[in-house]
Order: sequence, then structure tokens, then C-alpha cells
Amino acid sequence: MAEKKRQMKLACHIHATGHHVAAWMHPGSQKDAGSNPEHYMDMAKLAERGKFDLMFLADVPAIRDGNLEGLARWPQYMAHFEPLTILSAMAAVTKHVGFVATASTSYLEPYNLARLFGSLDHISHGRAGWNIVTTSNPAAAGNFGRDEHYSHAERYRRAREFVEIVKGLWDSYDDDAFVRDVGTGVYFDHKKLHRLNHQGEFFSVKGPLNMPRPPQGHPLLVQAGTSGDGRGLASDVADMVFIQQLRLSTAQAIYKDIKARVVEAGRQPEDLLLMPGMAVIISDTEDEAKRQNDWLQSKIHTDVGLELLGGQLGYISLKGVDVEKPLPESVMPPENTSEGARLREMLKDNPQTVRQMYEQVSGARGSHVLFGTPTQVADGLQEWFEGRGGDGFIIQPSWLPGGMVDFVDKVVPELQRRGIFRKEYEGTTMRENLGLKRPPSRYAN
Ligand SMILES: Cc1cc2nc3c(=O)[nH]c(=O)nc-3n(C[C@H](O)[C@H](O)[C@H](O)COP(=O)(O)O)c2cc1C
Repeated sequence: MAEKKRQMKLACHIHATGHHVAAWMHPGSQKDAGSNPEHYMDMAKLAERGKFDLMFLADVPAIRDGNLEGLARWPQYMAHFEPLTILSAMAAVTKHVGFVATASTSYLEPYNLARLFGSLDHISHGRAGWNIVTTSNPAAAGNFGRDEHYSHAERYRRAREFVEIVKGLWDSYDDDAFVRDVGTGVYFDHKKLHRLNHQGEFFSVKGPLNMPRPPQGHPLLVQAGTSGDGRGLASDVADMVFIQQLRLSTAQAIYKDIKARVVEAGRQPEDLLLMPGMAVIISDTEDEAKRQNDWLQSKIHTDVGLELLGGQLGYISLKGVDVEKPLPESVMPPENTSEGARLREMLKDNPQTVRQMYEQVSGARGSHVLFGTPTQVADGLQEWFEGRGGDGFIIQPSWLPGGMVDFVDKVVPELQRRGIFRKEYEGTTMRENLGLKRPPSRYAN
């Protein structure tokens, strides 16, 4: 029997008006997208029409603080829904597509988070996932009673403890605890309810969680970013990793490294799916796609570019820097962050002006850009997929809604024709569609 071709997984990363910083200026964009629930519900239905595995909503519990005169030119995180609330509405109008939201281990309590994602998993009948982030934006600290953000290492120590508690809380009830037996009058078997009694460095959580075990056992666990600490956390606990890389060779190296770490952690390589971001611009001709890309790039205002680049350099201010010259020598990309590593790589073989740097990182935010005809975009995805740069991709439409419509109507059929993407959903839960196991409860024998 012929072996089934390896198939790519597809996620879409929805920033309200689109992935490009200038997306909101596109003539076809949904200008008020960040506070328009119908826009998000339409995107969910569209993703499901394209048989996407999941939609991903990023989040930070703060505005982007800094040079507000510049930041007023860019809506991301400035007009923004709380992700789980809008995802509940999106779940109600779909049946198959999964939903992953970012939530911060630095600025939530594990009990709150376990309830939120457990609820979304029940509401969506097994389609919820959590993008575990430690939050790099220091502006969040001031919203939660802190003068300063936690250090990078402390954030990740806290994240590890946080995740273990959340997983333990989701296991509070055994899968078969709710007997609901009218004859005996017993609603649940109290011997199948477990108290966590966690005492650790950062948290003390008694439990149990007041909710039946989620349909997926544990909602999908995702990690984003490729710092050493991030990779360590991912290989121990995550089902999926999102990365953003400009080049296939770097993605391949990260793929190899993370899969090896997964094996070292006692898991199978296929237990964790690696998903690079791909910023896409699709048109019927290559020239027209290039023209659209050039137009969006030309709309990056210098102040926005400097804010974005400054953020990636460790949230420093670049106000007043000469953008036609290379970065001042006193400014070095951070050593321990994924963004720092990407910037260092960018500078290594091609010293650039500040303008060239921010143009590379602010349009697509550090992802590889695929622009061209549907065939060319499909070729690019197939090359990265077959070259083991990823198990699939987070598609980042440059502007919305049109960029997503083009991908679903023009690129998805091409990938299906090539036999590298599904024509129908395989299962009912997100884990089933992704080919990932349902985790047993820690109390199961
Ligand atoms: C595709 C993708 C999506 C991300 N989404 C978020 C997000 O929603 N919120 C957030 O605070 N960080 C987000 N990040 C950033 C990472 O979680 C991480 O904070 C960042 O890469 C810096 O941390 P690190 O150097 O430890 O990796 C995202 C990263 C990637 C690659």
C-alpha cells in the first residue's frame, strides 16, 4: 500500500488588521478590526473553510508604551480584544478549527488561567490551546503592581512552575468522575476528585479546579520563541512551537535542535510540532504581489520602525538615531533573547543601516516573507516543509481580510492538489486534527 504523503499543519496568526505594521492603511483593510467582533468571527469561518488546524491570537496585557506619537500610527495591541473572550464568540460560529490564545505566566495566576482555557476547551468541544508566554514587554509590570518586569531567567522559572500547576489543575477530576446518577442521587464520584496541594517557589495552590477534565485532557500547549530558556521549556512541555525566522537554513537548525531536545526530554520527536511564521502576499501576477509588498513597506513610518526595532533590541529608545547609518556601536542586540539572536544573524553577513534593519523586522516582524502568485507561495511553503524547516506554518496574512481570503481560495487548493495538505478534517478535537495524543491524567494508573 502506498504510504500517505507527510502533510503540513496550518495555523493562521491574526493581528486585527493584518500582520504588516502598515496593514490598516491598505485600501481593503477592516480599519476598526481590533474592536469589531464580526471581523474576528468572519476570520474564524474563513479559516475553517480553508481547513486550517488553528487560529492564533497574540496578546500582551498592556499597550505598547514608548514614543506615543510614533505608536499612534500602528494599531497592534492599542485597540485589542482580550483573546479568550473573542475566541469564545469565534468558537460558537465554527465546528472544526482550533483556537490558540496567548496568556502570560508572569501576570496571571495559574488557577485563573486553568479555568479560562479549560472553559474554552469545553465551550469549543476540544479546540482550545494556550500559547505560554512569559511576556517580554516591560510595560505590563506597571499594570500588575510591580515597578519592574521579572528578569528573563526568573520569568522562565516562574513559567515552568506555572505550567505544572495548570496541568495538575486540569487533572483535578478523573475523566469518568461525573456519574450524574439520578438513581443513587450522586452527581460525581468524590474519590475521583484530586486536590493539588502545590507549594513552590512562586505559587501556593491548593486546588482542585471546579470543572470537569477538559475534552482534550489538556488544551494544546504552545510555546513561542527560541531563546535557550524558551527551547528548554518547549521541549519539556509543549505540543507546538511557533518561531519566526528569515531563512530556511536557520529554521532547519532550530528544527533539528528542538526535536533533539524533545527526545532528550524522553518524548517522541513527533510529540512536538514546529511551526515557522510565514508572512504572505498573494496576487495573480508576481509583479502585482511585489507592488503590494513594496507599497506596504513604503508605508512604514520611521517612528514606528524605530519603536519596533527598539523593542526587539530589548525595549530601548532609538529616538534621534540616524536611520541612514548602521546602529551605534553602543547598541548591541541582547544575548539571551530570540529576537536578539535574529538581529545578530541579520548583521553578521550584511552590515545594514538602521532603516534597512527596521524595514526587515517591522513589516513581517522577523518572519520569512512569501510574495507572489498562488503557485509561487505554495512552492515556498513546500520547499520549507520538505526541507524540514517546519512541520507546518503559521500563515501571517499581511493585511486582512483580503490576504486571508486569497490564501484560503488560491493557495490552499494548490497545496491540496499537491497532496501536502488535508481536504477534510480528520478528527473532532484540535489534538486529533494535529495527530497529537490526548494526555492521560497524572492520577490515571
Ligand atoms: C509567532 C510568535 C508569536 C508570539 N506571540 C507572542 C504574544 O502573543 N505575546 C508575547 O508576549 N510574546 C509573544 N511572542 C514572543 C515570545 O513569546 C517571546 O516572548 C519572545 O520571543 C522573547 O522571549 P525569548 O527571547 O525568551 O524567546 C511570540 C513569538 C512568536 C515567534
